[in-house]
This record gives sequence, structure tokens and C-alpha cells, in this order.
Amino acid sequence: MTMVDVEARLAELSAQAAICTACRLSAGRTHAVFADGSAQADIMFIGEGPGYHEDRQGVPFVGKAGMLLDRLLGEAGLDRRDVYIANVVKCRPPNNRDPRPDEIDACKHFLVEQIRLVDPAVVMTMGNFSTKLLLKTTVGITRMRGNIIPWWGRVVIPTFHPAAALRSGPTMVETVKEDLELAVRTVRDRRAGREPGGDGPAPEQHEQAPEQHEQLGLFG
Ligand code: URA
Repeated sequence: MTMVDVEARLAELSAQAAICTACRLSAGRTHAVFADGSAQADIMFIGEGPGYHEDRQGVPFVGKAGMLLDRLLGEAGLDRRDVYIANVVKCRPPNNRDPRPDEIDACKHFLVEQIRLVDPAVVMTMGNFSTKLLLKTTVGITRMRGNIIPWWGRVVIPTFHPAAALRSGPTMVETVKEDLELAVRTVRDRRAGREPGGDGPAPEQHEQAPEQHEQLGLFG
């Protein structure tokens, strides 16, 4: 598939999300929030779902958490136009509650296609929600973060959600920054054909068995 085809297919999916009524979240939305950034990105970020500002603007991570993400991207030498940013669900859950299992089921085909089309080397799941969904784990984000986890021919590096980092304070913000730097090094190392994680501290590896991947059909 050429990049033109990939971008056309993503635009088609975004248009479908904009008029999707597959779950109750569509009733409360101002805009579906499909994604932001580059279809050629090496790093894809996955949050939970749009909040108030994202729903208003139709763009992910534009509120306070998004401003922190932008700042940390900048400090890692990246711009949001260099990465791809999406969420587990495309419509805002009322009062920012967690998305429900049937809402995720109705929406996840969009995320599956986004990952397949963008084909990033590194997926950064931000927070418990996207981490548990992709990795089918019950292990909390505090233990999962900062690990390089082989996943469907690429790697997942979980990190804290920027909103949690904002609530928690500078130590957690610094940790997200370190995880981002690990993602940048991992992309660089993969391009150079080295083991991921290169010059950083040795990450713990949580490999998922291939047969488990088969059963899950990506993530459920
Ligand atoms: N939180 C998320 O998980 N996603 C957004 O787009 C904004 C805030």
C-alpha cells in the first residue's frame, strides 16, 4: 500500500467514525475524535477517549493533558506532527467516565485499522486503559510502564497517562519523559538493527506467547 492509499483509507475511516452510531457515546458527541499526526509516524500514542476539549475541537489531546504531551514530545525532540495520536474510543464518554466494554467493542475496529495502516515501530499506550486493552494484562501501569513489550511485530511501551502525571506531580512527569526517550531510542535502534532499548537501562521483557496473539486477534 502506498502512503497515498494509507492516508486515503485513514480519511475514509475518520469519515465513518464521524457518522458512526454503533454505540451510545455517539449520542453525546460534538465531534468524533479520530486521530492527529502523521500516517508515516514511527511512534503511535494511544490514550483512553476524548475529553471535553477534544470533543469540542475534534482533535485528541488538546486539553491540559495534551499540552503536557506536546511539551514532553518537544523535549524529546518530537512534534505532534511527527507522531500519530489516537484513543481507544473515538467519542467522549459522559463526564469522562471510563468507556464500557460494549463501547470499546463497537469502536475497536477503528483502532485495529489505525495500527495496521500507520504500522508504527513503537506503540506507546498511555495509562491503564489502553495498556490493559492491547496487552490483555491485569498488571497495573506502575509495573508495566517503561518496559519494551514485543507485540505483533512491533513493540508496546506503556507509560503513565499525561492526565495522571499532571495530577501526581513532577516525579511522574519525569517518568513519562524517560519513557518517551526510551521510545525514541527504540525507534532509532530498530532502524539501526540493534536490540531495542540500546543505551538505556535494561528493560524487563514481557513477551506474549504467539499462540496468545493468534487467539486474541490483535486485542480481543
Ligand atoms: N485523554 C485521553 O485519553 N485522550 C484524549 O484525547 C484526551 C485526554
